[in-house]
Amino acid sequence: MDGSGIRRLGVLGSGKGSNFVAIADAIAAGTLPAEVAVVISDVPDAGILRHAADRGLPALHVHPGGFRTKLDEEAEHRYRQTLLDHGVDLIVLAGFMRILKGGLLRSFEGRVVNIHPSLLPSFPGLAAWKQALDYGVKVTGCTVHLVDQGIDTGPILAQRAVPVVDGDTAESLHARIQDAERQLYPAAIGALVRGEVTVRGRQASGFRS
Ligand code: GRF
Repeated sequence: MDGSGIRRLGVLGSGKGSNFVAIADAIAAGTLPAEVAVVISDVPDAGILRHAADRGLPALHVHPGGFRTKLDEEAEHRYRQTLLDHGVDLIVLAGFMRILKGGLLRSFEGRVVNIHPSLLPSFPGLAAWKQALDYGVKVTGCTVHLVDQGIDTGPILAQRAVPVVDGDTAESLHARIQDAERQLYPAAIGALVRGEVTVRGRQASGFRS
């Protein structure tokens, strides 16, 4: 079943953790053949840590250092070591609000995934649902991608479209996108774990939604 050597997930998040819950539920339901090795947050009281602890999973606050949008060098070392200590094969970013760089990415090259709330390459960066609404697009969505040194630029593994409807607010559109995320992310991670996904350069194939 496990065709990739990926089994142990290290989930990083800063927020409420709804994507983490969807992943944990898929594992519990037997549709995602993996296990959560550790959940790490840069925010001590993040909902994602509470959800992990409620499930009896290792839930750690790891101090992110002095910067606001990235980890400083020492923090990156702490994150890397914590992930290695827990035998993590795949880093799953689930609302982690800091950019990963350097040594951490090199140690897990090709083994860091993120979910972004737009159809990349449109609307990278923050509040992508609001960017889409303000721009006036009629279709947006969510994207699962591998993480590289850029911001939301890594090879795309899976996408799901979400319509923008008349009268949408940033909140209503975000909620609809998050519903799609909660389906797409566990499915895409499952395809990776089962070894169904091949990535050559920017081209990823094998995911069937
Ligand atoms: C998600 O909407 C995801 O697109 C973005 O961060 C948000 C995290 O939400 N990367 P949650 O903490 O999983 O509820």
